[in-house]
Formats: sequence, structure tokens, C-alpha cells
Amino acid sequence: MDKRTSMKIGLFCVLLGACSAVKIINLKVPSTYLLDQTSKTPDPLILDCEYEVDENEKGFVLKWLLDGQPVYQWIPSKNPFPFQSFKNRVDTSYVVSQEHLHKHRAMAIIKPLANFTGEYSCIVQTYASIDRRAAKLKIIVRESKFDLSYYSNGDGEVTVDCQARDISPLPELQIRINNELFETENLKSVQGENGLYNASISGTLRKDQLESPAQIECLLTIPETNYNKRRSTTYYESHLKTTTTTLATTTTVQMLQAAPENLQKKELYATESNSATSLPKLTSFSIFVTIGLVSSRFFSR
Ligand SMILES: *[C@@H]1O[C@H](CO)[C@@H](O)[C@H](O)[C@H]1NC(C)=O
Ligand SMILES: *[C@@H]1O[C@H](CO)[C@@H](O)[C@H](O)[C@H]1NC(C)=O
Repeated sequence: MDKRTSMKIGLFCVLLGACSAVKIINLKVPSTYLLDQTSKTPDPLILDCEYEVDENEKGFVLKWLLDGQPVYQWIPSKNPFPFQSFKNRVDTSYVVSQEHLHKHRAMAIIKPLANFTGEYSCIVQTYASIDRRAAKLKIIVRESKFDLSYYSNGDGEVTVDCQARDISPLPELQIRINNELFETENLKSVQGENGLYNASISGTLRKDQLESPAQIECLLTIPETNYNKRRSTTYYESHLKTTTTTLATTTTVQMLQAAPENLQKKELYATESNSATSLPKLTSFSIFVTIGLVSSRFFSR
């Protein structure tokens, strides 16, 4: 195409406001981001918008919107500008590409908040053209606690109780006994001022309906995500106590069916274990013995 032809097309585009001189080719918005409140240096949440744009285009502006509200704007001759609620949460020094019209197109969110969930749109425009694309992102706040316990309820009954604390969004909980769904009351939940939920379910059955030992587990899921966790414990009739406080039980947590492409943080797959304080004496003792054995083997080499 010679210069005159392209000028003619350019003019035509300006007059019509059509023709995509700037075009988004890839929007990189993860569907979930796992926020671990205990982590002091969480990974930044990076949203990127890849586009094609002619270097000669005039008036280039890039914007990021969250649910229709502008949260970030960048004009190549200026510094990137985060709006209101994103003000101190975007690393404006983040550079994704050295190319003039691409340098600050990505938004690097540091320490996202639970309410940063929503639909993110990238809008790129020049005097002659505009393009936009949007994708949904869900912030998952990892629970601070996930407990499963059982206790004697008097009257020959056993109550099984499962709870998760300080989690967002609201999870679903399910108890299984020997791999069969255990009928429980509906999920109880409260939402704190920080937007996080405490959620629990519990159910009661007659002691004679529960053979000892029995495998009890609680499954936690966040709908429409692949965030799944499991806690399990073994019921022994001889361990049954009459108490409403959380029993120290041997528990394990693990991620099931983690789908790596959607998950930002590696820790999500990590196996977690209960804090030492909530382990029963017997378990602590056996851990001690195990450590003793392992270290004696190690040092005898
Ligand atoms: C998110 O919550 C914080 C307070 O925790 C509030 O200041 C901010 O305006 C909220 N942001 C959005 C986008 O709702
Ligand atoms: C969730 O549970 C914790 C521990 O019991 C408590 O401190 C907190 O206030 C609860 N949150 C709400 C919203 O009730």
C-alpha cells in the first residue's frame, strides 16, 4: 500500500470512526487470585492487555475499568495513574514492555482487597479508533482456620462440626462419614465488616449409628472456582468427649483437582497441616518420636 492510499484509508477511518487501527489481541486476566492474608509479600496481581497499534497513531490512551468504573489510566507521555480505591495498590513503576506505546499497559496490583472481584475491562483508544475487552476475576481470601471436630452431645448422640473462618467469597461445606454424605443443618454464616465470612455446618447422629472407627471428612469448596480443601479425622468412640470446644483431632488439608492454569499462587497446592498447638498430645508425641528417629538416622551416617 503506498502512502497516499494509506492516508486515504486513514481519513476514511477518522470520518467514519470505524476501522481498527488499535486492536486488542490478548487480555490476560486470571479467573481467580488467591489472597493469603498471612503473607507479607503476596505476589502482585498482574492484569495485562496486549494490543496492536501503529506507532504513528495519535492520542493513545489506555484504561482499565472495574465493573465499569475507571481504576487506571495511562497516556504514554505521562505517568500511569491509578484512580480512587486503587490509589496505593498499583505499582506504577511496573514495566511490561520497553516499547513506547506498551510500557505501562499492564496493571500490577499489590495486595489486592477482597472487593477487587469483578469484571475488568481494558480500553485502548487513539484519535482514530478504539477497542475494548473484558474478563471476570474472583479474589479468593484464604481462610484463617478450617476445623473439623466431633463431640458427645449427651443423650448418646454425637455432633460433627465443621467450620471455616475469615474466608471470601462464601464457601460451601459438606461433611462425609465413611465417604457418604452426612445430612447436616444448613450452612450458617456471618459476614464481618472486613467482608470476610465465618461459615459452619454441623449435624448430629446417634452413637449407635456410628461404628468406631469411622472416617469423617469435611469438604470446603468455593463455587465457580477450583478452590477445594479437605479436612479429615478418625472417629473413635473411646476418644469421645463431652465438650463444645474444638477437639484436637488429626487433620489434613489438601487441594483436590487443582487446575494450574487458573491459579496464580503456588501455595494453593501446598499441603497444610494444623498448627502444633491444636495437635493432640499423642500426635505431638509421635511427631517427636518420628523426628527423633529421622535425626538419629541422619546423624549416624
Ligand atoms: C473496597 O473496600 C475498601 C475498604 O476495605 C473501600 O475503601 C473501597 O472503596 C472498596 N473498593 C471498591 C472498589 O468497592
Ligand atoms: C469469626 O470467628 C472469629 C473467631 O471465633 C471471631 O473472632 C470473629 O469475630 C468472627 N467473625 C464474625 C464476622 O463473626
